[in-house]
Amino acid sequence: MQTIDYLRISLIDRCNFRCHYCMPSDEELNYLLRESLLTKEEIITLLKEVFIPLGFNKFRLTGGEPLLRPDLVEIVAAITCLPETKDLAISTNAFLLEKFAKPLYEAGLRRINISLDSLQPDNFDSIIGNHGRSRWEQTWNGILAAHQVGFDPLKLNVVVIPGVNDQEILDLAALTFDKNWHVRFIEFMPIGNPELYADRAWIPSEEIRQNIRQKWGLETSEVLGNGPADVFQIPGAKGTLGFISQMSECFCDRCNRMRLSADGLLRPCLLNETGQIDLKTALRHDRDYQQLRDRVQHLLDIKPDINFKQRENGTLTGNYSRTMSQIGG
Ligand code: GTP
Ligand code: 5AD
Ligand code: SF4
Repeated sequence: MQTIDYLRISLIDRCNFRCHYCMPSDEELNYLLRESLLTKEEIITLLKEVFIPLGFNKFRLTGGEPLLRPDLVEIVAAITCLPETKDLAISTNAFLLEKFAKPLYEAGLRRINISLDSLQPDNFDSIIGNHGRSRWEQTWNGILAAHQVGFDPLKLNVVVIPGVNDQEILDLAALTFDKNWHVRFIEFMPIGNPELYADRAWIPSEEIRQNIRQKWGLETSEVLGNGPADVFQIPGAKGTLGFISQMSECFCDRCNRMRLSADGLLRPCLLNETGQIDLKTALRHDRDYQQLRDRVQHLLDIKPDINFKQRENGTLTGNYSRTMSQIGG
């Protein structure tokens, strides 16, 4: 049976971008109040008293946008200090990374995954829902800052959306030629805003690989990380190309993760919240850690039956009342 030892911790549900596939419009969102967010101390207590004793040792900080959390650097430092931590990473949009790359590195972080769906400023702004001054340059500078500070591996996540950024696939893949970056193409999951994407299907990873193979060739490469990516390399390139194929493949049998939302809900599956546990309420009302461990252990035991497996006609029909931005991807 797959070991489940990877916890994705969402620190905040807010984001400074508005990518349609991840976040609905502001009017539809009810942001969490500050007092609903788990505090740094509560997160560390949950790790020490519940997750680490149950064998978790890989952690990822997500959002919304985790760089909006004022105590992010302290949270990173506190998690890297835990002797059991084997791996800590964050997922960010890089807009604030120029300022935070160095302090995060100094706090012990080594691994960053950055969402970057376009290299063309106009297209980029349209995808992130920006109508003001372009945000492309500051984002790119954030990525370069992370590179210069020495984050390795540095991964760039591209959600491929037909008619939106599929014409940029080769340009994005070409970033790996002279930089040791890991560009990962993610099959778009049509779960964010059904109206916006009703007429758009997802592109299978194999089609993207074919495209790249025809142009430059492609060989398999070593997998780096804890995620579901299949990894390849253009011959002679410094970096690699990853493919996350949750639509065309079902990797649920290999699922090694659980997700903790910013308000302390523990969900067993990105696409299925059955069995979810409200850890925050339990933590704030009575500090019975043994009972919490037992409840989480039970969820771990039943997770294989909960893992989302339905894929009907290329769409996802799941049990999710929250958006990707609220779950943390
Ligand atoms: P690494 O450890 O660096 O490989 O990270 P990762 O791939 O686990 O994390 P990342 O946040 O970069 O995830 C990238 C994307 O892969 C997510 O946004 C999802 O689209 C997809 N993904 C990651 N985990 C899951 C999962 O458990 N289920 C599904 N359906 N998709 C997932
Ligand atoms: N389909 C696929 N990936 C998504 N992400 C957000 N929404 C979707 C979706 N509908 C990804 C982001 C980021 C990660 C945290 O989640 O691109 O890389
Ligand atoms: Fe894991 Fe659920 Fe994702 Fe499958 S769909 S890989 S079980 S989180």
